[in-house]
Amino acid sequence: MTVGRNPELDPGHTAPGESRRPIGVFDSGVGGLTVVRALRQALPGEDIVYLGDTARVPYGSKSPRTVERYSLTCQQFLLDRGVKLVLIACNTASAQALPALVAASPVPVIGAVEPGADSALAASTAPRHLGVIGTLGTIRSGAYATAIAARDPSAKLAAVAAPLFVPLAEEGWVDDEVAAIVARRYLEPLFAQDPQIATIVLGCTHYPLLRNVIARVASELAGRPIAVIDSASAMAAAAKEILVAAGAPEPNQRAQAGRLDCFATDTSRLDELAPRFLGEPISGFELVDL
Ligand code: DGL
Repeated sequence: MTVGRNPELDPGHTAPGESRRPIGVFDSGVGGLTVVRALRQALPGEDIVYLGDTARVPYGSKSPRTVERYSLTCQQFLLDRGVKLVLIACNTASAQALPALVAASPVPVIGAVEPGADSALAASTAPRHLGVIGTLGTIRSGAYATAIAARDPSAKLAAVAAPLFVPLAEEGWVDDEVAAIVARRYLEPLFAQDPQIATIVLGCTHYPLLRNVIARVASELAGRPIAVIDSASAMAAAAKEILVAAGAPEPNQRAQAGRLDCFATDTSRLDELAPRFLGEPISGFELVDL
């Protein structure tokens, strides 16, 4: 599990089991709401503060240094709101900024890549043939290759950057002929790297919206069923494990549903986009300037 915090920043820090403090989640935009969706299923009583850095999205095409700088300001925003745990609901930020985020946080930080790698291993059997798709930044970082090799050095991993899936997910073109053409364009080179791929990891928090078309096109190309997995539920499970280990009394057994407070650095189109990713109505976003 990817969990770390910097105890030197706050040696007397209260354990995350202290239940009334919210969980903080950030992403470059709205994709991270797929992680919030999983978090609300796993821990329905928990309060959540979500930040989408929508003014600066996409992170996937930016340099690692810029992604790290933006990610640190996002995390600080959440820490300033007293969160007890930070979830980096952005694969690009997780791949390029996790060490800096952990070093800057007195509370535990959960990235997206290692839970994604854990899910990929749980969904497959050796000899493993895995494929990962993500943003340019995530694929270039090699973070999935590192995480998977650490767990199963014999696993074979093919990787392709699939940046056009991000605007398709936002546009709501998630299972039509345009999405299928784009999926074929990305998945053909993935299978060309390794025709034996059995499991595809969605290494971007936008991609779960396109899961059906990705699974269908991948299975057509392979001529057999392909498992498609993402890191959202594994991240939520990791959050639950931390809270329970820290002594939270059954964090999902509260009588009341937890609050969800959403912030964004730009609010254009969010009323339309956010419910698609969250899977439930949303009461609105407060505009913040980082
Ligand atoms: N949500 C981002 C991720 O998981 C993708 C969007 C972006 O490029 O910022 O990598």
